Amino acid sequence: MPKTFEWLTYQKWSREFDSDIIYLRVLQTNIVVLNSHRAVRDLLENRSSIYSDRDRLVMMNTLMGWNIMFAFNPYGEKWREERRYFHQAFSPSVLNQYRPRLSSETGKLLKRLIDDPHDFMDHIRTTTGAIILGITFGMKIQGLKDPYVVLAEKALHGIAMAGNAGSYLVDFFPLLRHLPDGFPGTKFKREASEWSRYVSQMFTRPFELVQHKLNNGEAEPSILASLLTRLDPNKDNSHEESVIRGVTGAAYVAGADTTVSSLQTFILAMLLYPDVQKRAHEEIDRVVGTDRLPEFEDQDRLPYVMSIMMETLRWRNVLPLAISHRLMVDDEYRGYQLPAGTLVVANTWAILHDEKTYPNPDVFDPSRYLKPDGQLNPNAPTPTEAAFGYGRRICPGRHFALESLWIMIAYVLATLQIDKATDANGEVIEPSSDYTSGMLSYPVPYKASFTPRSAASNALIENLGIAD
Ligand code: HEM
Repeated sequence: MPKTFEWLTYQKWSREFDSDIIYLRVLQTNIVVLNSHRAVRDLLENRSSIYSDRDRLVMMNTLMGWNIMFAFNPYGEKWREERRYFHQAFSPSVLNQYRPRLSSETGKLLKRLIDDPHDFMDHIRTTTGAIILGITFGMKIQGLKDPYVVLAEKALHGIAMAGNAGSYLVDFFPLLRHLPDGFPGTKFKREASEWSRYVSQMFTRPFELVQHKLNNGEAEPSILASLLTRLDPNKDNSHEESVIRGVTGAAYVAGADTTVSSLQTFILAMLLYPDVQKRAHEEIDRVVGTDRLPEFEDQDRLPYVMSIMMETLRWRNVLPLAISHRLMVDDEYRGYQLPAGTLVVANTWAILHDEKTYPNPDVFDPSRYLKPDGQLNPNAPTPTEAAFGYGRRICPGRHFALESLWIMIAYVLATLQIDKATDANGEVIEPSSDYTSGMLSYPVPYKASFTPRSAASNALIENLGIAD
């Protein structure tokens, strides 16, 4: 089994064998990789009642403790109940109330990018962390390297490393976990023990902080505070509290570090494709002008900005293999027998880089979503159908993620000129276009420079208030 950048190997095999379905058998585990939108739609979407279970990954769930999060839970009552709560907190109908925070935190990001471009990748993380921690727990972060943002980064690193099928041998040989510590080949136990601490802290610390503040009447409005205050104080609420802890913890985990990767990709694309940036500047100046920032109400009038967001999600994928689904009963597809328990891996990368749907797939080209008149083409393929996963497991935070991404991209394009950084001798530093491998994929750190596009942009940013 490929150990890194599996999506590229699966895509290569799919081409070599001229088959969008690949079957692998690793010891007792059957793995089926789906490399086309058609196969994914037929199985994960149209048959989603039997394709929505999750793998019982020993490393992730048993050793690191990720079974606390419904994203990794089997298809069953706990998953259903927590997903229902989660959906209520992040459904399109409630997103309006989060917009002021999205705008204000994004405003602070602009200032941080100009003042300290050196750490811009961390500033992006700080901003997405501030947004999700504010909305979910009413927390204010402490600026760069805030402990709660760092905690999320560390915990998510564990998911990135262990989340894909086959990342750790112990997933195929569960007995390995009984080997004594320090025995050769047990590095995974040390890693799991460290990562499990972060997982547990993410699900306890902010929860207890808000509970404490609620008891003292000091809690800021938040999803957690509103869920807890709805509980009947005359009842035993231990079950509900555990559900609420799971749901808000899941928002923190899934919300803090996913959008980060997409935004870092967006900045990279602007460095590599200056003409795209120029065209976006022109659209914003024409539609919004230069004396105010774009707002959510402008979305429909900024089709090129919308296309940049879609192309960002297509060009480089945050979860190139989504999260594996697990088949619950025997099934048959195109004459193939698929036994119950088969792990089904959707190769999102292959789907979003299929040249039949996206000609020149390696090129960042937002115009692929537009009609010749510059308006959005309703018949163009929509990468968001694959980037956020499939069927009953589709990302329930996707509407919120799209709002967050859109406002950040629009604010940055409206006010800043993004260029390649230069070194002390004035030589341009070419950005690395490499990505990390793992369940979550991020751009390898690179440098960029940010300058206000004009005196008017500078004034807009200055008027947004002081960054933390
Ligand atoms: C660019 C940003 C994001 C991308 C690309 C993304 C993508 C995904 C993908 C591919 C999955 C797996 C779907 C599957 O199994 O088929 C997923 C699951 C999930 N996402 Fe997101 N996501 C993003 C942001 C968010 C945010 C901001 C939140 C929370 C506010 C969130 C919450 C979740 C949760 C809770 C699940 C687990 C769903 C389940 O297993 O039922 N995601 N996401």
